[in-house]
Amino acid sequence: MTPIIRGAHPSDLPYLYGICLKTADSGKDATALYSDPWLVGQYFAAPYLVRDSSLCFVAEEEGIPKGYIVAADDTEAFDSWLDRFWLPPLRARYPLSQIEAHKVSDREKNLYRYINRTGPFVTRENSPWLADYPAHLHIDLLPDLQGKGCGRLLMERLFEALAGRGCPGVHLGVDGQNLNAVGFYRKLGFEDLERPEWGFMLGKKI
Ligand SMILES: CC(C)(COP(=O)(O)OP(=O)(O)OC[C@H]1O[C@@H](n2cnc3c(N)ncnc32)[C@H](O)[C@@H]1OP(=O)(O)O)[C@@H](O)C(=O)NCCC(=O)NCCS
Repeated sequence: MTPIIRGAHPSDLPYLYGICLKTADSGKDATALYSDPWLVGQYFAAPYLVRDSSLCFVAEEEGIPKGYIVAADDTEAFDSWLDRFWLPPLRARYPLSQIEAHKVSDREKNLYRYINRTGPFVTRENSPWLADYPAHLHIDLLPDLQGKGCGRLLMERLFEALAGRGCPGVHLGVDGQNLNAVGFYRKLGFEDLERPEWGFMLGKKI
């Protein structure tokens, strides 16, 4: 059955958490790496849908969302909202003091650190390219939907929505081990903005 690309709805939230976990190990299933299956989606998927669902799209097959793209058009405003509204209850639920007690994986430890750091995160001072690429995105598809053109379609729907808002460009970070995703982004016209020690910061003008 041909997948359908549609705007995401808040009721898609459980699927986003599931897809996020199933693709969080450099594009592969990270279920074994997280003692808390919700943690990764709490940071990389859910806040986008809750804050502005009009910049989120899903790829659905037989009525089931199997892939998504989520984005924020103004990263500084998004980070500020994350810091003030979304993260405070998560900081209480995932305190740094529990990292050792729970014997979590290195990846899970990193997420505890992300959740507990306080803003500002990406700024025009530490990322001079931000003015030209103010939006950012995350895209993930379950394995049986990969390689069928859905990634490109999701990207195109997002670019259209960002263009409609007059957004000049979009950036994203990719883990250095996820060379499959890097190849995909380059094919879609993304270029290097920065080479941080953890991977690639890529950008594309809209
Ligand atoms: C990375 C990902 C989003 C790509 O989506 P996809 O649906 O598999 O990609 P598509 O089939 O839409 O490919 C789009 C185009 O990119 C090309 N492409 C895809 N992967 C490529 C690669 N590794 N190298 C070069 N080109 C690639 C395709 O050939 C296609 O070209 P065409 O449109 O000109 O024919 C998807 O594979 C995925 O979700 N992977 C797991 C999660 C992940 O890694 N997410 C990114 C985290 S940063």
